[in-house]
Amino acid sequence: MGSREEEHFRGSFSRGRGGLRGEGSAGVEVGEGEGLLSRLVLEGKTLGTGSFGRVRFATFRPTGRPYALKMLKKTEVVFLKQVEHVKTEKKLLETISHPFVVNLMGAFQDDKNLFLMMEYIIGGEFFSHLRKAGRFPNDTARFYAAQITLVFEHLHSMMILYRDLKPENLLLDMDGHCKVTDFGFAKKVEYRTWTLCGTPEYLAPEIILSKGHGKAVDWWALGILMYEMLAGYPPFYDEDPLGIYQKILEGKIKFPWHFDRHSKDLIKKLLTADLTKRLGNLKGGAEDIKKHKWFASANTDWSQMLNNHKSLQAPIKPDVAGEADTANFEKYPDSVDGSTQPIDARDQELFADF
Ligand SMILES: Nc1ncnc2c1ncn2[C@@H]1O[C@H](COP(=O)(O)OP(=O)(O)OP(=O)(O)O)[C@@H](O)[C@H]1O
Ligand SMILES: [Mg+2]
Repeated sequence: MGSREEEHFRGSFSRGRGGLRGEGSAGVEVGEGEGLLSRLVLEGKTLGTGSFGRVRFATFRPTGRPYALKMLKKTEVVFLKQVEHVKTEKKLLETISHPFVVNLMGAFQDDKNLFLMMEYIIGGEFFSHLRKAGRFPNDTARFYAAQITLVFEHLHSMMILYRDLKPENLLLDMDGHCKVTDFGFAKKVEYRTWTLCGTPEYLAPEIILSKGHGKAVDWWALGILMYEMLAGYPPFYDEDPLGIYQKILEGKIKFPWHFDRHSKDLIKKLLTADLTKRLGNLKGGAEDIKKHKWFASANTDWSQMLNNHKSLQAPIKPDVAGEADTANFEKYPDSVDGSTQPIDARDQELFADF
């Protein structure tokens, strides 16, 4: 990945985009949506880029409605051994329905590309809003941490690990509510899995140590996100991924003076290397996090947040000028991938069930 320039924040902190990928899980359903591509107008801008393709703004001609189209080059998917991951991404997105998870509208392919057609989330990346603000006030961080907690609670109840929490994979809708996108690393598990994947800054110690990992990795990542929202930079940082891993394993967290005591307490309890002590991974599950003082002291109404979030005013209100506005997304260079080669017939077989 890393097609966006590395960004420099607060002097020393910078992070490229994207992460490592490992093997995926098997099992797919029959694809659908043929013919959709010819009815999509792709004149709009690129919303984001990734390792094997890009996400583009698209208009569905019959209705004029906007969508986000994730396009993955088959050559890259095969070369990077991501066939199963991509099929899992599609299959999981099809089964998940949650107010804070992006909706998949359809999936289809041609001889060069795979396409995931999603609802267009107009407010842009959480990443951009966080960088613009520098850091978020306690209430703002708490609001978004609550939405992510509800997403993980739901995914984990379906035995799905998300495994790629970071500000680049969170979007804001027109009212400023959160939508989780990018299920490229997500996985359905029974108990534990052994794949090395994710983004260095957000990796839990048990992933780095290849101990086998479960739902607890997502709660660890929530601790990192909480810290990054409140500080403006992640807790374990180094120019070099190996340096990041070392700091994660050392586990020393320095809190800026402005963190309140409840947020510090929750972050420490999430960023606990010992899995038998990490909050979220204990007998009470997600409930322990929801009951924590950081949320409780602000009277977070979990049921309203889950069942009637539109009645809650989000702390950020993205500037939106019409439903086709793309100004909240950064500019990416135009596509230079017109020359992508179709893959041979044997490799095409791999995608028969996408
Ligand atoms: N539904 C959507 N609406 C608007 N923008 C989106 C949507 N989905 C993704 N994007 C934008 O495209 C970017 C890349 O999408 P995504 O994270 O799914 O791909 P990726 O990082 O390339 O994935 P992978 O990690 O699978 O390579 C996101 O960071 C976001 O900016
Ligand atoms: Mg992504």
